[in-house]
Amino acid sequence: MRKKIVAGNWKMNTTLEEGVGLAKDVNQALSKATPKCDVIIAVPFTHLASINAVINPTKLGLGAENCADHKSGAYTGEVSASMVASTGATYVILGHSERRQYYGETSEILKEKVNLALANNLTPIFCIGEVLEERENGTYLDVVKKQIEEALFDLSAEDFSKLILAYEPVWAIGTGKTATDDQAQEMHAHIRSVIASKYGKEVADNTSILYGGSCKPSNAPQLFAKPDVDGGLIGGASLDAESFMGIVNAF
Ligand code: PGA
Repeated sequence: MRKKIVAGNWKMNTTLEEGVGLAKDVNQALSKATPKCDVIIAVPFTHLASINAVINPTKLGLGAENCADHKSGAYTGEVSASMVASTGATYVILGHSERRQYYGETSEILKEKVNLALANNLTPIFCIGEVLEERENGTYLDVVKKQIEEALFDLSAEDFSKLILAYEPVWAIGTGKTATDDQAQEMHAHIRSVIASKYGKEVADNTSILYGGSCKPSNAPQLFAKPDVDGGLIGGASLDAESFMGIVNAF
């Protein structure tokens, strides 16, 4: 059976001190809880090693928000997958719409990142999702299918099985405008059928597909109740331990 997962995406927020404090708060809350899902936080590169030192890895997974598309070498300012892994982190968000939009990340680049993440035993949380115009002109299902095919369909079934996917409609990210539970279910079922068409039903059924975009404690229970929604990738609401735990406890 596929895993239920709630993952926080802190984005470019918190100083090191604030971040370590927030991670400790989440870790503390989890130490007293028995959540019905895996819990992960994805944090800025600069925070990874310090946060790894203060959390219980059996309760709280740790990830980066990105990694480089090259193994090592003369790429000033980049952080490689092996560097991320060396901090103790075991996950990495790849293909977030903010990376695609603001930093020009293409499917070709993302393919490299996914390969390097897997080669370093990092679990990619791979993001896909349409912009508002694509939602409104009715091409959203095809857009997401293409994102998956272009970046991921060169993987072997064994490697594909290691991925977590996150459907994040760009129009719902940070806007307060959440997809309805029916809109999320329609897309998640579509994503699962796209996976099944290439890798078969078993791989598709075992792939965790998270929803992201203005997910909050108030709307998480309805979204997570949908059969193909396996959890959430949480931006804004993951920056407060109480609201993040409110979403974790939606399961
Ligand atoms: P949000 O962000 O929850 O603030 O909408 C989600 C994301 O971008 O991962």
